[in-house]
Amino acid sequence: MAFPENFITELTDRNDIVEVVSSYVRLSKRSGANLFGLCPFHSEKTPSFSVSPDKQIYHCFGCGKGGGVINFIMEVENLSFPEAVEFLAKRVGMPLPEETNDRESRKRARMLALNKEAARFFYSQLSTPAGAAACDYMRQRQLSPATARRFGLGFAPDSWNSLTDAMKEKGFTEYELADAGLVRRGKNGGVYDTFRNRLMFPVIDVRGNVIGFSGRILGEGEPKYMNSPETLVFNKSRNLFALNLAKKSKCGYIILSEGNIDVASLHQAGFDSAVASLGTSLTPEQARLLSRYTDQVIIAYDNDGAGIKAAQRAIGILEKLDLKVKVLRLEGAKDPDEFIKRKGPEAFRKLLEGSENQVDYRLRQVTAKYDLSVDEQKVDFLKEATELVARLPGTVERQVYAMRVAAMAAVPENVVADEVERRRKRLLSSARRAEDRQQARLDRAPPSGGKAMHYADPASAAAEEGVIRLLYLEPGLIREPGLPPPEEFSSPELGHIYAAMLEKLRRGETANTATLSEALSGEEMSLLVSLLQKPELLNRSGQSLRDYIGRIKERRDEAGQAGDLRALANRYREKKGYEG
Ligand code: CTP
Ligand code: MN
Repeated sequence: MAFPENFITELTDRNDIVEVVSSYVRLSKRSGANLFGLCPFHSEKTPSFSVSPDKQIYHCFGCGKGGGVINFIMEVENLSFPEAVEFLAKRVGMPLPEETNDRESRKRARMLALNKEAARFFYSQLSTPAGAAACDYMRQRQLSPATARRFGLGFAPDSWNSLTDAMKEKGFTEYELADAGLVRRGKNGGVYDTFRNRLMFPVIDVRGNVIGFSGRILGEGEPKYMNSPETLVFNKSRNLFALNLAKKSKCGYIILSEGNIDVASLHQAGFDSAVASLGTSLTPEQARLLSRYTDQVIIAYDNDGAGIKAAQRAIGILEKLDLKVKVLRLEGAKDPDEFIKRKGPEAFRKLLEGSENQVDYRLRQVTAKYDLSVDEQKVDFLKEATELVARLPGTVERQVYAMRVAAMAAVPENVVADEVERRRKRLLSSARRAEDRQQARLDRAPPSGGKAMHYADPASAAAEEGVIRLLYLEPGLIREPGLPPPEEFSSPELGHIYAAMLEKLRRGETANTATLSEALSGEEMSLLVSLLQKPELLNRSGQSLRDYIGRIKERRDEAGQAGDLRALANRYREKKGYEG
């Protein structure tokens, strides 16, 4: 979907980057014009994430990520370009260009607005006398008010018409309520509330829309869950409960569980990447959705026959998409919620890390490769197995596994243990050296710093960066003669940024972080922002541009000559071979 340029410009004008970033990062003023905070894209203790109100860009000196407000939302909310645009448009109440005259999307927008109002209504019921029952239930399940807020939990009163009345008052019709699945039609033609006397979980999609609801009975009873029916905006098999929160987790995997209470309880205990499907077993669409946000899924289904069967099915579906899959064995508890209540979050974390199972599994794989009755193979086995054991972090763990390896190969325990410790020392010192090198690199890094680019031809690349910087700061330079074609850039990344800018500028459009967001990848955008941090004198910009172009051409000629020489030498060698 292409958005008109003036739309994108207005969008970025109205979404001030400082305001937008501030709802994710605590920014403070240090010196100069920029604001600083802790980077939301990597973990750090001292702030290296900067936001420039003048340039309307952000840049992290630690990890090198950078861009404009649209990129920021793409990165932090894990959205595609059009999704991020939609997100920001919604934030400031701008209608999307194509929405204004499309009946179907007007209807969708209306239904989403209704759902949001309904969620607000359910939430507000928690603080009424009628809501006390739901609050009691949450207390009983040890769900805190903060968790209720984070998930937007609410209460559907035990009444046939309280939601209906409240929504009608807000201007929604019975038809709209029925289409959204919030009411049902009775025999006499009237309507009644679908959800009654239930703890309400809004289902929120990755863009932040309330698309439907799950209502859990307060206590025991059937059905335990009631879900919104399929509507224009709600499709059970394409969405996952709490993915809107889990997608922002930094932990690198997603925990898949069955019940909404399990999910809420996991998040409350600090496992912020838990999601659940919506009353069906995992579908291929949901697996695909998950694969957009992670490459590892950890299944934490209920510890019963049904849960194990469902896990088997889910594994098949997830592995088809090349997702790494692990299944938790929740011993001594019926589900993740109960496990955490009984054994605490630490025990659950251990289970997630599953170090023991992992080692057993890998050791088994190593064993399978060798025939231990053959001496040479036994030596190879010991090499590989001790290497594996040497990488285990715990001393006791290493001893235990060293003993096991010794038993497998029928060699004395101390021989294996010594070998393990020798290898461990070697690993540690090479890790330390790598760290030192990394530190040295960081110390040397230029101010734009971070994930330094490795250019094949640094001298040419510096000039290429200069051309881009000048064009960015002074778009009028597009009319200068002699601008090289992008293919002449030595760095493909810079060439691509340059090409995207040329295309815009030559059409008379603006080339800035907002308008380039769609054309550039996240890395390219970060590169652009980091090169923009370097100083550039603008008082003789025409001359600077010519200098840069000259340098690029020079480097090309030199490279070309070097290439010619090599070709010549090769030809000469061939000929000699021929004659000799
Ligand atoms: N389920 C459902 N609709 C949802 C979520 C779950 O119908 N939106 C169904 C699942 O298919 C599964 C069961 O409810 O069969 C999950 O139940 P459970 O894990 O027991 O739910 P919890 O909310 O965790 O309840 P409990 O407190 O009893 O564990
Ligand atoms: Mn449960």
